[in-house]
Amino acid sequence: MKEKIDSLRESFEQELSRTMSSDAVEQLRVAYLGKKGSVTGLLKSLKDVGAQEKKELGQHINQLKKQVEERLAQRVESIRAAEEQREIAAVERYDVTLPSKGLTGSYHPITLVQRQLEEIFSSMGFIVEDFKEIVTDYECFEAVNIPKDHPARDMQDTYYLENGQLLKTHTSAAQNFILQKYGAPVRAIFPGRCFRNEATDASHETTFFQMEGIMVDKNISISNLIYFMKTMLSQVFEREVKVRLRPGFFPFVEPGFELDINCLICGGEGCSTCHHSGWVELCPCGMIHPNVLKMGGVDPEEYTGFAFGLGLTRLVMMKYGVKDIRDLNSGNLKALSQFQQA
Ligand code: PHE
Repeated sequence: MKEKIDSLRESFEQELSRTMSSDAVEQLRVAYLGKKGSVTGLLKSLKDVGAQEKKELGQHINQLKKQVEERLAQRVESIRAAEEQREIAAVERYDVTLPSKGLTGSYHPITLVQRQLEEIFSSMGFIVEDFKEIVTDYECFEAVNIPKDHPARDMQDTYYLENGQLLKTHTSAAQNFILQKYGAPVRAIFPGRCFRNEATDASHETTFFQMEGIMVDKNISISNLIYFMKTMLSQVFEREVKVRLRPGFFPFVEPGFELDINCLICGGEGCSTCHHSGWVELCPCGMIHPNVLKMGGVDPEEYTGFAFGLGLTRLVMMKYGVKDIRDLNSGNLKALSQFQQA
């Protein structure tokens, strides 16, 4: 029996060295360790030997079994590594340093304006944060002072996943995360794609971009908010822009405002983009509600702050004179490739 074990070990090693695919290794495993495999057969035949021998042979066979298992695993591993190497070698390679043949792409206008805003705000000491698009009910609503069944939720119907998560309706969904992450004082902007259940028309889309900003510190007031908004808008539009503040309600700010700018498409005369009012709602904003600060771990007795939710998509439309919001998501290169960073 001892010889049988040794010769089995030898033949296993030989066969193993000939395997070239994970399938072949699996076949070998079945042939040796399967129900009818040779090693299994050896173990079964132990019942015919005496007690003393049984113990010794049993040990040998078990050793062989262990060895077979280990060697099979090693082989699978090295075959996989070799397959991976072959795949990598087969990938077509490009020399990215070669000059282009005149087929240069262009940035989407939203990317252009987003980058410009990131630069403007970075220069004023704001950090730029990224945030996910699928969020929890807590992040999107409860942490910004919109409890369950609050009527404000009606205006922000969105797409829900079966597990209760949802596509974020506003960039405010990141406020809690940022307050928790940085504490106070903090200056941050966080651009992002937002989603709402909207009937689309020239100025409404189910998918759009916002850029939110918060500034929390000691003694922050509405004057700080107005200063930052005006500075930012005049840089984006490269001219003085007329703005007006109206009271606006958002559960996460108190007081809250709507910052409108003079419609730059029609110059204030009235067109479909501004719903013939001459003004375009661009930037809801306000002083962060104490509850929101508290939920973010910031003491509202010590700190105050402002928040704004800039309609990035709308800003792009104003800046470049895009009349229909649907053009921006259309993938129509004729429409989208004509924009350049100012
Ligand atoms: N999150 C609000 C919205 O999308 C906008 C907002 C942001 C209002 C920050 C106030 C302060 O409607």
